[in-house]
Amino acid sequence: MMKKVVLAYSGGLDTSVCIFLLKERYDFDEVISVIVDVGQPEEDIKTAKERAERFADKVYCIDAREEFVNDYIIPSIKANGCYEGYVLGTAIARPLIAKKVVDVAIKENALAVAHGCTGKGNDQLRFDFIFSLSGLEIIAPIRDLNLVRSWEIDYAREKGLDLGINAEKPWSIDENLWSRSIEGGRLEDPWFTPPEEIYKWTNDPRNAPNDPEFIEISFKDGIPVKLNNKELDGLNLIRELNRLGGLHGVGRTDIIEDRILGLKARENYEHPAATILISAHKALEQIVLTKDEIFFKNMVDERWSDLAYKGLIYEPLFDDLNAFIDKTQERVCGDVRLKLFKGSLHIVGRRSPYQLYSETNVSFDEKQSEKVILSEYHGYQAKIFKNVVMHKKKT
Ligand code: ARG
Repeated sequence: MMKKVVLAYSGGLDTSVCIFLLKERYDFDEVISVIVDVGQPEEDIKTAKERAERFADKVYCIDAREEFVNDYIIPSIKANGCYEGYVLGTAIARPLIAKKVVDVAIKENALAVAHGCTGKGNDQLRFDFIFSLSGLEIIAPIRDLNLVRSWEIDYAREKGLDLGINAEKPWSIDENLWSRSIEGGRLEDPWFTPPEEIYKWTNDPRNAPNDPEFIEISFKDGIPVKLNNKELDGLNLIRELNRLGGLHGVGRTDIIEDRILGLKARENYEHPAATILISAHKALEQIVLTKDEIFFKNMVDERWSDLAYKGLIYEPLFDDLNAFIDKTQERVCGDVRLKLFKGSLHIVGRRSPYQLYSETNVSFDEKQSEKVILSEYHGYQAKIFKNVVMHKKKT
């Protein structure tokens, strides 16, 4: 019987080295490379395809962009998906990639599934988790053989593959539609200031336009559906916001992140659309949800993000949290206006048919005694109730 293995392939150094190792060191007869398109640059997909066609026995290229948007990014917007202050990006794409690899493995009757992750990062655990549900053997050559990047670079070159990685540009990059992550090399020194060259999606704020840009985003049930009053599907909306935010230098993060295994790591990210959409979404929640709902949802969002970060999307709690979140989103409808300017983002307007905000109640121009305030409090509660009832009747 042919010994087949299916590899999650990105076209980068680690996964390219895996193709050779799976044949040489693990004795597989057939290495099947699976490239999953989750919105990384077209150029990267093209390069990955060329490399896979050259070195692997069979190649699958799966367009999972729509699924990524609908089943991963949108729930993440509803949950304001952030881990330790950074927008979840790599974390939410990994389970989808892993699932596509498993699908191919089943179809191809393969013995094993493989990934190119090291033993230090989070991605190995995210892949392992989904892979393990398939019951197939899991192979992680870079981790199992304890390989280092310099060895990999030489080994790949020996096999006729020069990836142009060198000591000056050693960055390890992961990109999808929602975020771009840059790590490694000199960035591992937390005192080292990131050079401008690591950024590809966002302008240096100094070079951003000198005039601010005002944009409006409309939400329905917590989902962004319009930009400047024009309906757009998720994929195009995110693309357009990545362009606009990037132009104005919005959406960079440089943080020390606690990895799943407890290591602290220095991470750099770009995520203009995600920054814009999550900020706008939160602003709308502020005006439609009650104080108690917001308090509780913040805790739910944190738990959601922690599970998503670990890739534990099949933990039953994840489903439970999504059910709560979806319930709250029924009233998260309305518009948010934002100002983008030289690396900054400000919310400058919000409105909703379900807003609990009352201008007369809060206005400085209306005189109110303490007693009035108290009765207003009850009136306020009544109004919340009325809004909820009104909403229920409609649905
Ligand atoms: N630390 C981030 C995470 O675990 C991103 C890792 C991305 N990988 C990379 N090679 N840049 O979500």
